[in-house]
Amino acid sequence: MTETVAESKLKAAFGELQEILGERVSEALVVREHHSHGESTHPPGVPDFVCFPQSTDEVRRIVLVSVKHHLPVVPFGAGTSLEGHVHALRGGICVDMRQMNRVLRISAEDMDATVEAGVSRKQLQKTLENTGLTFFIDPGADATLGGMTATRASGTTAVRYGTMRENVLGLTVVLADGRVIHTGTRARKSSAGYDLTRLFVGSEGTLGVITEVTLRLHAQPEAVTAAICAFSTIEGAVRTVIEVIQLGVSVARIEFMDDHQVDAVNRYSGLNLALKPTLLFEFHGVSEASVAEAARMAETLSLEHGGQGFAWQTTLAERDRLWKARHDVYYATGALRPGSSVLTTDVCVPISRLAECIVATRAELDQASFPAVMVGHVGDGNFHVQCLLGPDQVAEADAFAARLVDRAQAMGGTCTGEHGVGSGKKKYLKAEHGEALEVMRDLKRMFDPENRMNPGKVVDLD
Ligand code: LAC
Ligand code: ZN
Repeated sequence: MTETVAESKLKAAFGELQEILGERVSEALVVREHHSHGESTHPPGVPDFVCFPQSTDEVRRIVLVSVKHHLPVVPFGAGTSLEGHVHALRGGICVDMRQMNRVLRISAEDMDATVEAGVSRKQLQKTLENTGLTFFIDPGADATLGGMTATRASGTTAVRYGTMRENVLGLTVVLADGRVIHTGTRARKSSAGYDLTRLFVGSEGTLGVITEVTLRLHAQPEAVTAAICAFSTIEGAVRTVIEVIQLGVSVARIEFMDDHQVDAVNRYSGLNLALKPTLLFEFHGVSEASVAEAARMAETLSLEHGGQGFAWQTTLAERDRLWKARHDVYYATGALRPGSSVLTTDVCVPISRLAECIVATRAELDQASFPAVMVGHVGDGNFHVQCLLGPDQVAEADAFAARLVDRAQAMGGTCTGEHGVGSGKKKYLKAEHGEALEVMRDLKRMFDPENRMNPGKVVDLD
């Protein structure tokens, strides 16, 4: 049988990748399939090869193979993304970053660290034990810091510590043409030119491959307390959040679960919470007195809005159990309807519109043919709906998600507060950005004229 041009090109590329990486490149189907998807149900995309580089220079040389053979490059971290970011929709070279997993530098005095992109957030937290410092950004999954940077991730603590946008000080990036650049400095602020760091944070692999990240760290709080409160109505719970934020009560986390979500969590995590709209709080401070004061203010506001008893969770074991249960909601929800596919939304609205947005969304869900739960980082105005779908309910859920995005955008909000665009939310960007979307396309063309870097994500060029 004669080889096609495409086959001989792939064969040559594979040989060149082997020269760079030896055994650390695979064309085995099982490895490629493992790297064909994240945790969403968006259609997978199987790469032609999977590489496991151990240095920025190896990534640079991999990108040069992509240049030579016009092959796509798709970075891959922990594979936990929810919008199809890592799906190799046009095949090509998957770059699995997990072997770039060294913490390169920690400065306790400056409260920052530099890590390779494949370090996971829990690995970093473990390395920081006994330094008095920690890294708080917490999307739930044990994602890699490169992946979190690439998706501008956040999670339960963003209300206090910000998102990756606020916590990345600088980057090393391999560009589409193989140039290696360093962005930012270790200074806490800078006015030196265009802010390329911010441009790459959230670029989802479409402008280059992030190989190293310099991160801001935070002091481990001296005192921590958590609390949980059930409410008679969703509106009461969300009004409490709005007042907590507007009054400047210092919360480190403030999370909402509707009664359906509470049911899922009780079943999956063996808890026994009342089946009511519920808020979970955490307070961080420099003393027991300061956290107790913040918690008491939240308690007063909760009781004014129909809160039915504010249960303090002061021991470490109680708090760990609570937040582990919260972090497992994605899996807990899936377990409510085994075999279903899960559609997750993550709109974010200005805090003043949050109650209206959540109440209208729940009312709509109550009419849907599929079960759905709501959970969210409500202190940021960000919440998730997870829809549990049978095969014939996908179109109904897509229409629901589109209406939810319209509602959020009409309120001055965004189609994605934290999960990113990937392939799943491209369709919503025009309404959100207008002409600015064309400027994003221009940027993409400038960085990657051949559209080799994670093609099919964020913006389409063709
Ligand atoms: C969470 C993920 C789904 O908040 O963003 O659990
Ligand atoms: Zn979330």
